[in-house]
Amino acid sequence: MQIGFIGGGNMASALVGGLLARGTTADDIRIIDPSPEQRAALQQRFGIETFERADGQSLAGLDLVVIAVKPQQIRDAVHGLAEPLANALVVSVAAGIRAADLSRWLGGHRRIVRAMPNTPALIGMGVTGLAALPGLSENDRTQAERVLGAVGQTVWVDDESLIDAVTAVSGSGPAYVFLFMEAMIDGARALGLDAQQARTLALGTFAGAAQLALQADEPPATLRERVTSKGGTTAAALAVMEAGGVRHVVADALAAAQRRSVEMGDEFGRD
Ligand SMILES: NC(=O)c1ccc[n+]([C@@H]2O[C@H](COP(=O)([O-])OP(=O)(O)OC[C@H]3O[C@@H](n4cnc5c(N)ncnc54)[C@H](OP(=O)(O)O)[C@@H]3O)[C@@H](O)[C@H]2O)c1
Repeated sequence: MQIGFIGGGNMASALVGGLLARGTTADDIRIIDPSPEQRAALQQRFGIETFERADGQSLAGLDLVVIAVKPQQIRDAVHGLAEPLANALVVSVAAGIRAADLSRWLGGHRRIVRAMPNTPALIGMGVTGLAALPGLSENDRTQAERVLGAVGQTVWVDDESLIDAVTAVSGSGPAYVFLFMEAMIDGARALGLDAQQARTLALGTFAGAAQLALQADEPPATLRERVTSKGGTTAAALAVMEAGGVRHVVADALAAAQRRSVEMGDEFGRD
């Protein structure tokens, strides 16, 4: 399968790195990016062919094309590409761009997958939500899954509007975790631990608890109950968190992110 990328920034680099690590050969990948520095860096890092612009020549023979430009660049980036992309499966990773809008900009192209990866993809530990335009073949779904699966786990949603929920949970989610880490580090410093100790203890706790939850058969609620003895230190801390409405804050935060994702789709999708 010949895979092309329109846009050779962070996300494209993560995906190319993942694909090469999983056995795709450099000859089967090409990247299109207008920046000479970016192209030189990509050639040097991955040994793949690069092109300055997307056109009939650079896109010829591609089976799958990932669109990895910024959301505000996508409309211009695909302008005039309906013909060269007519036989390709198009996978967009652009946040907020609806498949129906992309389809319209590509002259009614139907083989479109919308993907929402997250930043841990940069170290191969991403989680990507995927949605397809109705009627996408099983084979196309498998191919899209293969590309995004190169940088972590994938989760399909049946209804594309759920990608706004995916954006709110896993797309924006790493920032929530970083915020919680910051608060844990600040709290640790306030209790007298130094910066290095606070970082090691807080980040190590996140990493360890995440791994434990992933490996356990029980849900996180059971794991929490198990480490919370009545009248103990954990119970004292959790009582403060519950009284502070932490669950409502998280639910409201996710709802705000989802609303913003819908708004962005409206803004970017305007013709
Ligand atoms: N990074 C993430 O973790 C993440 C997570 C989820 C979704 N995404 C999505 O992934 C997409 C790419 O994000 P990114 O972080 O990789 O952005 P990025 O680093 O800015 O990469 C985009 C690249 O595309 C180039 N470009 C602009 N117009 C182009 C055109 N017409 N043809 C070909 N290339 C063009 C840009 O060049 P210039 O810089 O010269 O404009 C830039 O090198 C975004 O839509 C974003 O929403 C990213």
